[in-house]
Amino acid sequence: MTGADGFIGSHLAEELTRRGVKVRALVMYNSFGRSGWLDSSPPELAGSMEILAGDIRDPHAMVELTAGIDVVFHLASLVAIPFSYLSPDNYVKTNVIGTLNMLQAARTNGVKKFVHTSTSEIYGSAGHVPMDESHPQNAHSPYAATKIAADQLALSYLRSFSLPVTVVRPFNTYGPRQSARAIIPTIISQIASGAASIRLGNLDPTRDFTYVSDVVVGFIAAAERPDLEGEVIHLGSGSEISIGELVSRIAALMKSEVEIVSDARRMRPQSSEVDRLVCDNSKAARLLEWSPKVEFEKGLRRTIQWVQDNLDHPGYRPDRYVI
Ligand SMILES: NC(=O)c1ccc[n+]([C@@H]2O[C@H](COP(=O)([O-])OP(=O)(O)OC[C@H]3O[C@@H](n4cnc5c(N)ncnc54)[C@H](O)[C@@H]3O)[C@@H](O)[C@H]2O)c1
Repeated sequence: MTGADGFIGSHLAEELTRRGVKVRALVMYNSFGRSGWLDSSPPELAGSMEILAGDIRDPHAMVELTAGIDVVFHLASLVAIPFSYLSPDNYVKTNVIGTLNMLQAARTNGVKKFVHTSTSEIYGSAGHVPMDESHPQNAHSPYAATKIAADQLALSYLRSFSLPVTVVRPFNTYGPRQSARAIIPTIISQIASGAASIRLGNLDPTRDFTYVSDVVVGFIAAAERPDLEGEVIHLGSGSEISIGELVSRIAALMKSEVEIVSDARRMRPQSSEVDRLVCDNSKAARLLEWSPKVEFEKGLRRTIQWVQDNLDHPGYRPDRYVI
C-alpha cells in the first residue's frame, strides 16, 4: 500500500496486519529514516510489516514495489488544500503522475485488485444533499482537480487494460494522527494548549465527518468484496455540522470557553471555498454492508485524548499556522 506513513494509511496498515494480512508499506523517503506514523505503531504491528521507503513519482521503483502484490491500496497523495494553492505543480506530479505510476506498475505486475483513494473535495459545494456518487464534479482547488484527474486515470485503466480498479471516496475523516492542519486537530490542539482565543478560517461551511477506524473498515471491504470493479463508493456519515458548531461541540467536551478569532491566512479564496458536503452512503451500505459505527461524540473524545497526549509531537505546534 502507498501512504502507509500517513494518517489514514497508518491505521489501515495496522488493521490489515492485525487481521493477518502481509503488508508491504510504502513510506515517503526521507534521509532521517522516519516512517511517519508507522514509527508510532505498536512494535508488534510495525514489526510485522515490510516497510519500504520510496516515492510514487518514481515509475521504476513502483514496479518493484508492486511485484508479487495481490492488492494495492493507493492512498499516497499531497492532501492539504492551502499548499495546493502554493505548489500546484507538485500536486500534479504527486497526485496525477504518481497515480499513473501506481496504475501502470500494478498493470505490469498483474495485481488482482487496485483500491484507489478519491475524496469528497472533488465535488466542490453540494448542489443537492445528500450527495451520491453521481453528483457533478467541480474542482474548487488544485488539490481537487488533481484528485479528479487521478480518479479518471484509475477508472480508465479498468476500461482500457482491465485493471481491477475500485474507487473509495471518503468524506472528511478524523481521528488520532491526523495532521494538525486539519480542522478537528486544529481546534483541539489550540484549546489543549491553553489558548484563550483560537484562530480559525471560515466558520460557516459544513462538513460530514467519519472516524478513521470506520473509514479503514470501508477500505478493507472494498478490497475483499467481489464484483466491485469500476465502482466508486462513498464513505461518509450522512450528517453535517458547521465549523462554528464543531468548535462549540469540541469546546464543551473539553470543558473550555473559547473565543474565536478570524484569521485571514486560514480563509480560502471565496470561490475556492467548499460550502457544504453531506454524504449519501447508501451505495456503501448496499455494496459493502458498510455503515459508520463510531458515534461523533465518542470519536471526538478519543481524538481529544490523543491530541492532548501528543501535544509535544513535532507535528503539533498550536501556536503556528501549519499548512
Ligand atoms: N483525511 C481526510 O479527511 C481525507 C478525506 C478524503 C480523502 N482522503 C484521501 O486519503 C488519502 C490519505 O490521506 P491522509 O488524510 O491520510 O493524508 P496524509 O497526508 O496523512 O497521508 C498521505 C501520505 O502520502 C504520502 N506521500 C505524499 N507524497 C508522496 C510521494 N510522492 N511518494 C510516496 N508517498 C507520498 C505522505 O508521506 C503521507 O504520509 C489521500 O489520498 C487523501 O486524498 C483523505
